[in-house]
Amino acid sequence: MMTQIACHRGARLCAPENTCPAFEAALAQGGDVLEFDVRQTRDGVLYVMHDETVDRTTNGTGPIAEMTSKEVDALDAGAWFDTRFAATPVPRLDAFLDAFKSRAAFYIEVKWADCDAIAQIIHRLDIAAQCYTCSFSEEMHLGMLRAAPDVAQMVHWRRGPPEVLTEKFDATIVEFYASDDAENDFTLENVRAAQAAGLATQVYSDTVSPALFAQIRDWGVGCLNTDHVSDFHAFRTAQDSPKAP
Ligand code: G3P
Ligand code: CA
Repeated sequence: MMTQIACHRGARLCAPENTCPAFEAALAQGGDVLEFDVRQTRDGVLYVMHDETVDRTTNGTGPIAEMTSKEVDALDAGAWFDTRFAATPVPRLDAFLDAFKSRAAFYIEVKWADCDAIAQIIHRLDIAAQCYTCSFSEEMHLGMLRAAPDVAQMVHWRRGPPEVLTEKFDATIVEFYASDDAENDFTLENVRAAQAAGLATQVYSDTVSPALFAQIRDWGVGCLNTDHVSDFHAFRTAQDSPKAP
């Protein structure tokens, strides 16, 4: 089994996160799944954006939920990262999914948005089978389960024991967090428990570590959610290459 690569906010070390250039770069580097965040404006238009405010990743200020779509469409989401990306827009969710649907799978992280509106877009584009969704908000999580029961649900391992993950959240995928601190829950014991419960597995890590990459391979993890797309792609390609006699 080849471990898939979920590209955390696109290839966000090379291009402004959650923009089309970052998603293009992610696929060019060998990514399989595009991870992104969803928020909405005051007039109910859905966008790909991580933060509650537009301050960090655009030239504007204020909460996106208090802005109109006309105001968000006028923002520059690229110049803060590098002037090469000046005039890059904040992607509208529907246009972004339509542009990439023939080339990628999607990990939809719902920050705060109308779950029915997200589901409508997924169904109109006929992409449910290539999407999975997750949220740190239980309300958003259960909202997506209600609005789009045909979309796979991923949950974070820390949400509860496997029977809760499968029964309450109808999860088919679980994500572990690999870190050097007490937050780490990526252990062999936990991975084996998830696999025994029939859950697909994903790991989130923001580091480049040959030891971690080897654990992901050896423990049969299905997907790595990472900023370091090209590093993990090089690792898995090397594993697959025929060895010299
Ligand atoms: O699965 C969670 C991971 O994708 C982290 O996302 O939005 O907190 O950077 P975020
Ligand atoms: Ca995210």
